[in-house]
Amino acid sequence: MGLVLAFLIAVTTLSQQVTCTTFRSPYKAIFNFGDAFSDTGNLNILAPKALYIGNPPYGETYFNRPTGRACNGRVVLDFIAQSIPLPLVPPYLAKGQDFSKGANFAVARATALDFKFYQENNIIPTSIASLNTSLSVQLGWFENLKPSLCNTTDACNLYFNSSLFLVGTIGFSDYTTMLTAGKTVDYVNSKVQDVVCSITSAATSLLDQGVQHMVVPGVVPLGCIPRILTVYVSPNVSDYDSIGCLQRYNNISQYHNKILRDAVKQLQIEFPKAVISYADYYEPITQFLAKPRIYGFTVNRSPLVACCGGGGPYNYNLSAQCGQSGVTACPDPTTVNWDGIAFTEKAYSIIANGWRNGLFAIPPI
Ligand SMILES: *[C@@H]1O[C@H](CO)[C@@H](O)[C@H](O)[C@H]1NC(C)=O
Ligand SMILES: *[C@@H]1O[C@H](CO)[C@@H](O)[C@H](O)[C@H]1NC(C)=O
Ligand SMILES: *[C@@H]1O[C@H](CO)[C@@H](O)[C@H](O)[C@H]1NC(C)=O
Ligand SMILES: *[C@@H]1O[C@H](CO)[C@@H](O)[C@H](O)[C@H]1NC(C)=O
Ligand SMILES: *[C@@H]1O[C@H](CO)[C@@H](O)[C@H](O)[C@H]1NC(C)=O
Ligand SMILES: *[C@@H]1O[C@H](CO)[C@@H](O)[C@H](O)[C@H]1NC(C)=O
Repeated sequence: MGLVLAFLIAVTTLSQQVTCTTFRSPYKAIFNFGDAFSDTGNLNILAPKALYIGNPPYGETYFNRPTGRACNGRVVLDFIAQSIPLPLVPPYLAKGQDFSKGANFAVARATALDFKFYQENNIIPTSIASLNTSLSVQLGWFENLKPSLCNTTDACNLYFNSSLFLVGTIGFSDYTTMLTAGKTVDYVNSKVQDVVCSITSAATSLLDQGVQHMVVPGVVPLGCIPRILTVYVSPNVSDYDSIGCLQRYNNISQYHNKILRDAVKQLQIEFPKAVISYADYYEPITQFLAKPRIYGFTVNRSPLVACCGGGGPYNYNLSAQCGQSGVTACPDPTTVNWDGIAFTEKAYSIIANGWRNGLFAIPPI
């Protein structure tokens, strides 16, 4: 009851803010940088069949076929595009696309830190992480594309004034790559500053080029991800929070998001004419997990359990992952988590709404 009340107060406070501080600019284009949470096909073009996201049942709910999204349907970026409305943002690596209304540079498994960092620190990348797709590489792709969008400072200012730029979510794969390589949580925490710094540099570079509307999303709660819950399972109940997430891993995300929020505040001061939002990915996921019924998620099973997977307490099995042959999805994908890492279309649609109306983004998009 107390929680619900606090939630309602938060909603009321935020919606009051909406009415007095925002004006809606009609966006004419969307550009997105990030990882699996917003990839709409780039990894699948770079490395077909990688991570199994190119196989059914990925895409079953909306597209009726795998599209390279790590989801059963649309991701947050898709819902934002449709709500404007704009066409779904085409993956940059798809040939022959019209990018005048936007491009998506996000690649599943992309890291905020450059590949060089991982090489230098002997963090053995998996074959997929070794693809050179970090945030700075994605920014380079944007630089390559830019002349086809606008050629002069005036033309670019005009174009960017009606374009929306999303920088992230990214960072998740940095942390999971380090953990998978056997690095400790303390080590990961010691790199959070650098990860956020790389996001801030990318944002600054875009703002320096005249970008006027930017969204910087935080990371999801790492300790609530079925893969993390499975691989780092603990016999000690005090390692889990009240929802059943691993507190030590959530701490990494909380630390990341705290530094990132502060960095966004700094950017807002440095670029007072731009509208820069911090968009929350952490709070919505924990709310879905704590109160699945309120948000319309199935309560047939624990909300921590993935829909698509090959067994185990969280339905995440390293040797039988979603998209591998014989691995099936749950009949009703109104769960929070889709494949043990990324989330369902249902979860993404609520997050996108929350970013648009101000419940999960300040200021709203
Ligand atoms: C990654 O790509 C960038 C830009 O294309 C290039 O400068 C860099 O050398 C590449 N790094 C690796 C490790 O291949
Ligand atoms: C910018 O100039 C290049 C080279 O002249 C041309 O190919 C491109 O179409 C121009 N872009 C725009 C938006 O006019
Ligand atoms: C773009 O917007 C900024 C501030 O919002 C304004 O200063 C600038 O003149 C605009 N540029 C164009 C070309 O409309
Ligand atoms: C469980 O974790 C708590 C807090 O980290 C610690 O104090 C306690 O000793 C642990 N118990 C066991 C059985 O390891
Ligand atoms: C989480 O972080 C807080 C503050 O940074 C710290 O006090 C706490 O011990 C951490 N908890 C775990 C489980 O790592
Ligand atoms: C994980 O998948 C393997 C291979 O299909 C299977 O043998 C094993 O029983 C599964 N584990 C669980 C916990 O379901």
